[in-house]
Order: sequence, then structure tokens, then C-alpha cells
Amino acid sequence: MLQVETQTLWLFCRPGFEADAGQELVARAAELGVFGYFVPGQVPGWVSFQAPGHGLGAELLPRLHLSELVFVRDWVMELARLELPGGDRVGSVLEALREEVDVFPFERLEVHVPAEGAPDDLARFARKWTSPLARALRDTGWLVPREESPVNLPRLDILLPSFEQALLCASPQGNRSPFVGGVPRLRFPPSAPSRSTLKLEEAWKLFIPEEHWYELLGGGRHAVDLGASPGGWTWQLVKEGMLVTAVDNGPMDEALMASGHVEHVRADGFTWRPRRAVDWLVCDIVDKPARVAELIAGWFEDGLCRYSVFNLKLPMKQRQQAWENCRDRLLACTALNAPDIRLQARQLYHDREEITCFVGPDLRRS
Ligand SMILES: C[S@@+](CC[C@H](N)C(=O)[O-])C[C@H]1O[C@@H](n2cnc3c(N)ncnc32)[C@H](O)[C@@H]1O
Repeated sequence: MLQVETQTLWLFCRPGFEADAGQELVARAAELGVFGYFVPGQVPGWVSFQAPGHGLGAELLPRLHLSELVFVRDWVMELARLELPGGDRVGSVLEALREEVDVFPFERLEVHVPAEGAPDDLARFARKWTSPLARALRDTGWLVPREESPVNLPRLDILLPSFEQALLCASPQGNRSPFVGGVPRLRFPPSAPSRSTLKLEEAWKLFIPEEHWYELLGGGRHAVDLGASPGGWTWQLVKEGMLVTAVDNGPMDEALMASGHVEHVRADGFTWRPRRAVDWLVCDIVDKPARVAELIAGWFEDGLCRYSVFNLKLPMKQRQQAWENCRDRLLACTALNAPDIRLQARQLYHDREEITCFVGPDLRRS
């Protein structure tokens, strides 16, 4: 019988958005001549994308960068799947690697458990299991620390959907999220006025590589925050030393106003304009996505800002289409369609129904 080998890429997304992530990848892969399908699967937030032959490893991952995707937060390539015994689970992983995996060795180990719907003690088991497993992998030469390897190695990601099954996967170095599984470990700053503050922090950490932070965020820049109340995003801008005009009819946090870095303007963010151009425009107004895209495009068309982070609240259905309409409107603006400027969007870990967009220099080229 003719056997067609199939490769599987596991996608991580916000639970509830599995179809959006799967459809996005099906479409993007097809543009590159890789024809696959997705299966939402049993675990909320995990989607398997499958394609016949070796198209995923050979054609897709070298040509499609994760940063081009909106609903997929991170991805890993399946190498082998195994039924875990009740006893020696470390030994069974070593054996499966020896017998079924030709990628060798790895630079690090990560074990993933479902964020929702898994048995309570699975996460505790995974945490306890990781160190003996990593030790055994190091002892057998499967794990080589980055500083000891002359070449970039993939990371070994083990997905544990249950106590009974393990999916052994590789995460490609250079084409993965800076946060394992797309989940950043950010601590809520006690003095920040709202939890939304974590959204802007995550956006910057995702869209701006660390070595470019000072160039884009430092040095006493000017920013406008549309829909600023009570001030979570403004707090982040002030923390970077910026002078901020916060536009919102709602109240701003008193301690933040006492910093002297914030001017509060009670006005409609859709019509208010600054007298002089600023460095940053951020916007967290919850409104129709097309209206927000039009607003942001207008600021860039009029040369009023250089960089931007803004949210688009997507509808319940046809989210991809809604994003593409906004993207097309934004890219119709000459200032945004320049070769050195990049428009990027992602459904962040801290986003709910919305996605967060970034406009700034194309840092992948530098
Ligand atoms: C999600 S909240 C913003 C939270 C804020 N980014 C933070 O971190 O604390 C949305 C804000 O947009 C404001 N808003 C809604 N429509 C607006 C408009 N047309 N102009 C200015 N602000 C508006 C609301 O008053 C609300 O405070």
C-alpha cells in the first residue's frame, strides 16, 4: 500500500480562536504552494496543521515567518507521538527520540500542558517531570546548552495533552515566538492604573527586539494616548520617560498625573489632533475596527506620528476578513506602505477579542 507521510505543525492560539488560527495558516501556506488542513483537536488553544510530504519543514517554515501571522502565537513541529506508560516516562521519551527522531540534538527543553480543560494535577506533574527529564537528556547528549553548540539548535517542546500521551516537537530557532508558547511572563506593576498596561508592555516586547528598545522608546519622546483612561498605557509610556498627551473624557489616575509627564485632554479621540507631530500614537479606543484603522491611517497620512500601537476589536465572525480590510486601508496610506516601515498585528496573550497592531521600522531587515 502506498503510504503518504504527513507532517504536523502544532499551533498555539487563544482558546476559542482555533478556527481563526487554522484558517489563517491554511491560507498562508497555500499561497506558498503548501496545501494542508487543520484539526482543532481536543485541547483548547492547540491546533494541528497537517500537510502531506515534507512541505512544512522544507517549504513552509523557511519561507513563512511567525511574525507574519495574526492568530497563531507560536508553533512547533511534531517529530513523534508516544503513549506514556504509568511507570518510566523519562525512559519512554528517550526511547522514542532514539527510535523515531533524526533531529539531534536540542538546545533546551520546554514542556507544555493545556491552559484549559486538563486534569488539575497535570501542570504540577509537568513541572516536577521537567528537571529529571532534562537531566537524562543532557546525560545522553540530546540536550546541549546554547553556549556549548557551534550552531543554532532547535528547542525540544513536549506537549502533554494528558497523562497518557506526549507529543515530541521541535521549535525552530529564528522562527518562533520570543515567549514560549506565545505566553509572556509579565508581572502586573502594582502602581499601574489598569491591567491593560500589560497589553502595551507585551506589544512592545513582541514587536520590538530588545536591542532596539532605546532607539524607539527612549530619550524623552512625545506620545499621544487616545482612549487613555484610567492610564495603563500612559503609565508604560511615562515609564519609558515619554511626555504624554492622554486623550479621554474619562478620569486619569491621580498618581500618574502627579508625575508631571502627562497632559490630560478631555476630547474626542477621533477628531482631536496635536499641534505638532509626535513620536508615538497609541490607541486603545474600543470602536469599529474600520473606524480605528481610518483614524490611524489619517495620523500617518498627515505626518503626525512615527510609530504606533493600536487595538482593533474584531467582530465575532469573519475576523480574518475584518483584519484584512483594516490592513488594506492602512497600507493604502503611502507613509505606511514605505519599504522600511512595517505593519504587524497579533492577537496577544493579554488580548481578548481584539488584536494589537504595530507600525514602526522594519526591524527584521536590520
Ligand atoms: C479600554 S479603555 C482604555 C484603557 C487604557 N488604555 C488603560 O490602559 O487604562 C477605552 C477607553 O476609550 C475611551 N474612549 C471611548 N471612545 C472614545 C473617544 N471617541 N475618544 C476618546 N476616548 C474614547 C473610553 O472612555 C475608555 O476610557
